[in-house]
Amino acid sequence: MSNGSVNGTVSLEDKFASLGIAKAAYVPPHMRNQQRAASSPSIPNGWSEPRSATPPARGGYDGVRGGFSDRGRGGGVPSAFSSPRGGGGGGAKWDDRPASSNGWAPTPRDTYARDAPPSREPKESFGYGYWKDGKHVAGGRNMRMEKELFGDLNDPLKQQTGINFEKYEEIPVEATGSGVPEPVTVFAPPLDPVLLENIQFARYNTPTPVQKYSIPIVAGGRDLMACAQTGSGKTGGFLFPILSASFQEGPRAPPFDPQATGYNRSRKAYPTALILAPTRELVSQIHDEARKFAYRSWVRPAVVYGGADINQQIRAMERGCDLLSATPGRLVDLIERGRISLSNIRYLVLDEADRMLDMGFEPQIRRIVQGEDMPGIHERQTLMFSATFPRDIQMLAKDFLKDYIFLSVGRVGSTSENITQKIEYVEDADKRSVLLDILLTEPKGGLTLVFVETKRMADMLSDFLMSSNMPATSIHGDRTQREREMALQTFRQGRTPILVATAVAARGLDIPNVTHVVNYDLPSDIDDYVHRIGRTGRAGNTGISTAFFNRGNRNIVRDLIELLREANQEIPAWLDTVAHETSSFGGGGPRGRGGRGGGGRGRTSGNRDFRSVSYAGGGRGGPAGYGGPQYGGGGGYSNGGGYGGGGAGGGGWW
Ligand SMILES: Nc1ncnc2c1ncn2[C@@H]1O[C@H](COP(=O)(O)OP(=O)(O)OP(=O)(O)O)[C@@H](O)[C@H]1O
Ligand SMILES: [Mg+2]
Repeated sequence: MSNGSVNGTVSLEDKFASLGIAKAAYVPPHMRNQQRAASSPSIPNGWSEPRSATPPARGGYDGVRGGFSDRGRGGGVPSAFSSPRGGGGGGAKWDDRPASSNGWAPTPRDTYARDAPPSREPKESFGYGYWKDGKHVAGGRNMRMEKELFGDLNDPLKQQTGINFEKYEEIPVEATGSGVPEPVTVFAPPLDPVLLENIQFARYNTPTPVQKYSIPIVAGGRDLMACAQTGSGKTGGFLFPILSASFQEGPRAPPFDPQATGYNRSRKAYPTALILAPTRELVSQIHDEARKFAYRSWVRPAVVYGGADINQQIRAMERGCDLLSATPGRLVDLIERGRISLSNIRYLVLDEADRMLDMGFEPQIRRIVQGEDMPGIHERQTLMFSATFPRDIQMLAKDFLKDYIFLSVGRVGSTSENITQKIEYVEDADKRSVLLDILLTEPKGGLTLVFVETKRMADMLSDFLMSSNMPATSIHGDRTQREREMALQTFRQGRTPILVATAVAARGLDIPNVTHVVNYDLPSDIDDYVHRIGRTGRAGNTGISTAFFNRGNRNIVRDLIELLREANQEIPAWLDTVAHETSSFGGGGPRGRGGRGGGGRGRTSGNRDFRSVSYAGGGRGGPAGYGGPQYGGGGGYSNGGGYGGGGAGGGGWW
């Protein structure tokens, strides 16, 4: 396997607690209650090869774009790619594709239509499509649904792209693995026209870099491990190619299941795409995105997560469950109850994949992927996405992937330059007053997210803020799901523009208008820091992050300095001093994941495709010689220790 730099850019290799506040102000119990309530050579245009099997019949349309119909079904969405037309979103077409081809490279399985179940024509057609006689019939427009899904122009509750959106183009991209297809440059056919229209409704004009690459990679039937900065559109990166293929290929009849017969069978869901993510709020957000881009199609997204009424989720799944977003625990529960079968899965996505394969989740993921009825590695496509991907987790991930492409947009684990990072020296005892000063001078209109390390601290700090007349709320793992959802909702709406959170809110959440992230307590793992500050500065918007640092955070100092340097941020002189002190006393070297084990990986070991670098031993079972001659090894990355004891994420610390 060789290693190619694509996008005409230089390869990345070449470029690049305390609870001290407890003694602060006492908050009386009655106030607390009150407050709580409140690469190889790239394949040039790898799409020239037509699909091997006969494409599912998609006739029925004359190729004339019928525009949207507010009444009746099949609002004139052209489905066949054979007729020349502008297509839904952007009108570009690839000349080098045979007219009869839909333009994508063949996927391993191309049999959707052949064994598709009978049509599932919905009673209410507006907004919902269906599949009939081998054709995708798009539903008519539903204005109420459109408003709910896509919002109005300048809707403050929907993320708007910011001034630096175009700058994503400048981020170097590296794709390694065999047969990397050329990226797309626009949203255009052969992406499905219904999807293209939904992309237009969402007001996305151009794909972000991760989307440009992931679309043809997934369409070409390949597995993918993708790393791209926070807020740079990874969700679309997996949803677009999955939905596009699903729209074109139709539903697939579930395999024969001897345990599911008659009534029982009809009550069991057989999703074809499964998206796993670590938190309830995140799967719920992914589900909302899936609903957006599945609008008017036959695909019915569903969502399951813990803490919410399981019967309600089962009833919702009975109305359709083609693309399922799930947290692992609830999914296992539903599989055990015989309500979900994974036997029909074609696409498996791990969002926040490094977290999903970290010690807290790995056994559950292994069980879901390898211990249930999910098709094997060769019968499904597996996609992994995150902004960080430490080398030890990459090694683990390969158990779930086959001949995958590793995509990195920017350096793995780097932070967006859209985020201005400030580090302030604050002793524990002073943190509250410094935070109050910050909040009091915050410009009006923005939202501030304050991260702390423990659930107890989240409660204490939000109580303190409320008692100081600050409009704050909190989110953490000990709050009920209802409380968590309420907190997030009032925060989004700006009714409580200050949210005190544990790491439960660190990953994936896309909340418009978060202008400031404060790391009141710094995490001990630099990757956690990257995800936390990534709640601001999204989709080309700018944001500020402030971290309170003191000597208790020495373990992160080197990684922090390296990260700041990479992102062209100011490094306070005192931070360098602490780093020097730390190294002269022998501490603070590259640490284990979050200091949760001994030794550690250090940032430099996890910044690119582990297959393309050689390294010396260590790490999680790191077999010496990986990436040796076969991978044309690189720079002798070393990685001591890896996991030592400790419970990375398993202990309910958020
Ligand atoms: N092509 C696009 N054009 C405009 N906006 C986009 C585009 N793709 C995604 N967005 C918007 O960018 C924001 C961030 O996207 P998304 O949540 O997918 O980021 P992410 O890379 O998954 O971040 P994280 O690492 O935090 O999970 C969302 O509000 C999304 O609507
Ligand atoms: Mg995401």
